[in-house]
Amino acid sequence: MKKLKKAVFPVGGLGTRFLPATKAMPKEMLTLVDKPIIQYVFEEAIAAGFEEFIFITGRNKNIINNHFDHNYELQKALNDKAKKEELEQTTGWMPEPGSIAFIRQQEPLGLGHAVWCARNFIGDEAFAVLLPDEIMKSKKPCLQQMREAYEQSGSSIIAVGEVEKKDTNKYGIIIPNGELKNNSVRVKGMVEKPKPEDAPSNLAIIGRYILDSDIFKYLDRTQKGAGGEIQLTDAMAEMAKTYEYNAVKFEGQRYDCGNKLGFIEATIAFALERKDLGDDVKKLIKKYA
Ligand code: G1P
Repeated sequence: MKKLKKAVFPVGGLGTRFLPATKAMPKEMLTLVDKPIIQYVFEEAIAAGFEEFIFITGRNKNIINNHFDHNYELQKALNDKAKKEELEQTTGWMPEPGSIAFIRQQEPLGLGHAVWCARNFIGDEAFAVLLPDEIMKSKKPCLQQMREAYEQSGSSIIAVGEVEKKDTNKYGIIIPNGELKNNSVRVKGMVEKPKPEDAPSNLAIIGRYILDSDIFKYLDRTQKGAGGEIQLTDAMAEMAKTYEYNAVKFEGQRYDCGNKLGFIEATIAFALERKDLGDDVKKLIKKYA
């Protein structure tokens, strides 16, 4: 079985669904309460035992690099005032030097292209891909649930969730080989954003993948697909004709922060859970609802 310690975060997208907020600021830095969404997914990867992190970025995304680096002025000020908790929030979660790489995608040609940009940094290992738009809340991290499935099968793993038929055109949809058994099913194929009437199932790809490095051979020759973009789904569908792919149904709560309503829902859910805010937020919701 191939080593699995590298996680790739495609963060090169333009964030057009959140304008004007994302005109100068990367959408990955939008915050749920007080933490940027990119940090939630990064912490999910850490919790699932990943050790090396590759961000596929673009122009206007340098704030993300800064977030994963020291801010000496701020840290000195906090240190001088003995603000321990704030210092911990600033640096306590940072990975050790040398474990993060930033690669410029140069052109936002699609998710498949973004992942392909990581090829020289992955070599022949298996690796995870996490889309920061999707925020997961669960006892066992989504990526950990997937790692366990990978360790059993050695195959590529896709996390899936059930969606309403009317929403299939927002997701990659898998073609399952039979029914889910113990939350898992072999994948025959997949289609990117099919119309509801063409969707092969209601099992949507939810932005977490564990992939065999041979995916790069398929990405090498993947042409533009849905939305005029080079789609990861198309490369995986081609590969699934000869390689084993398994889908794991994520057990937990998923927030699609790629759209405004999902983002607002996540904000409410995370705020309600906070010891320092939860009760007051509940009162506010009652007041406005
Ligand atoms: C991407 C993938 C899609 C997946 C989705 C999950 O689409 O291409 O297969 O279902 O993420 O959020 P995007 O949302 O970037 O259009």
